[in-house]
Order: sequence, then C-alpha cells, then structure tokens
Amino acid sequence: MHKGIAATWAVVAAATAAVVTIAISATAATPPQDAPPAMAVAAAVPDDQQPRYTSSGELIPPTGYRDWVFLSSGYGMTYSASRSDHKMFTNVFVAPWAYRSFMQSGKWPDRTLFVLEARDSLGKGSIVAGGQFQGDTMGLDIEVKDEAHLPDKWAYFPYDGKAPSVRAQPKENCWQCHEDHAAVEHSFVQFYPTLQPVAKKFGTWRDR
Ligand code: HEC
Repeated sequence: MHKGIAATWAVVAAATAAVVTIAISATAATPPQDAPPAMAVAAAVPDDQQPRYTSSGELIPPTGYRDWVFLSSGYGMTYSASRSDHKMFTNVFVAPWAYRSFMQSGKWPDRTLFVLEARDSLGKGSIVAGGQFQGDTMGLDIEVKDEAHLPDKWAYFPYDGKAPSVRAQPKENCWQCHEDHAAVEHSFVQFYPTLQPVAKKFGTWRDR
C-alpha cells in the first residue's frame, strides 16, 4: 500500500486562497448556471481544482484536496467476494466550485475533480476503548469529468501521492464499474447522503 502525500498542501492552499476569494465573489454576483462556460471556469477556478495534463496527456494530480468539500466516508467497503480482514476508511472530496454547481443543478460540471483518500483504520490509541479511527493515508484515487479532453468523458487515476503525473486506467479497471453502478452520472451519490436529495430534486438520480 502507498504512503500519503507530503505537507506541501498548506503552501498550495495559501497560494490559492486569494484566487478562491475572487472566484466566490464573482460567482455570487452572477445568476446560478447549470454548467458555467469553459472560459469562465478556466478564469475563476484555481488551477489546482481543475484537471491539468502533461504534454503526453497524463494528469497532474491535485495537491490541495484536503481543503475541498468532503462528501462522505466509507468504512471497509468491498465490491467482490474476495474480502480483506483489514478494513480501511475512504474519504471522498470534490472541488468546491464543482460542488456549488452540483447543488444548483444536480449535475457535475465539465472539469469536475474528485479525490478518494484511503486511510488506515486503527482501534488502539490514546483513550480509545472501542471503535475505529483514521490513521495514515494508504493511497489516493482521482476521478475526472472532462468532456473536451477525454474520449470516454470520465477518467480514473490511482495515485501514490508522489509521482508528478499519472496515466489513466484502462476502462475495465475503473470506468466500467462507475458507468454500471453509480447513481448520478459516474459518481456514487448513493453513498453521499447530503447529495442524494439534491440529485432527486433535479431528476438526475438513478436507483443503483
Ligand atoms: C467495483 C466497482 C468499482 C471499481 C472497479 C472502481 N470504483 Fe471507484 N467507487 C466505487 C464505489 C462504490 C465508490 C463509493 C465509495 C465510498 O463511498 O467510499 C467509488 C468512489 C470513487 C471515487 C469518489 C467519487 C465518486 O465517483 O463517487 C473516486 C475518485 C473513485 N471511486 C476512483 C476510482 C478509481 C481510480 C478506480 C480504478 C483504480 C475505481 N474507482 C474503481 C466503485 C468502484
């Protein structure tokens, strides 16, 4: 399993904070939109909150996701008969500008970025007499919706937290399960309780 990424986040967050403030005030002044035009998004969204690629088409992983909107945590979720005895937590984050757009439309805007962070689960420490809490990062999974750049509109990148760029997985490794089983587009909103009523209100929900 992979070790977590290092502490460059604080620096990145500070550098982008001013941009975020401008973006928020600009968004507040304009009426709600289903999907902001690409030009407006590129201008208002901090670089680290939208997909960026190398010249060979690999994704440059976002580093500041811990300041993004937290959707929910899974605990020990598995999707096949093979089970591991060691359960992990999975924390899901989405870029804040994409979250605000979802709340107004029930849809993910183009260039949405998600990060799923796997963390060790621990049962012993400090005053704990029962229950589980979160430990070190065990790896990240990144998901991108990018209709202009991606042949299959969504792409998937398991990330060790270290490499400067990552290549998308073949469709059968990630894309297909999200295509077949996710409740809203390719996102597993059936496991994010605060988003479910939004998707149902806007009619983008599918029972899965
Ligand atoms: C067998 C089905 C399946 C496969 C294969 C799969 N996922 Fe997922 N994925 C899920 C489920 C279920 C969730 C919800 C997890 C939670 O609530 O913690 C999820 C959530 C995610 C999320 C959070 C955003 C969302 O879409 O809800 C990301 C990011 C993600 N997966 C990336 C990947 C990557 C990268 C791969 C391939 C390496 C992959 N997934 C393969 C089922 C799958």
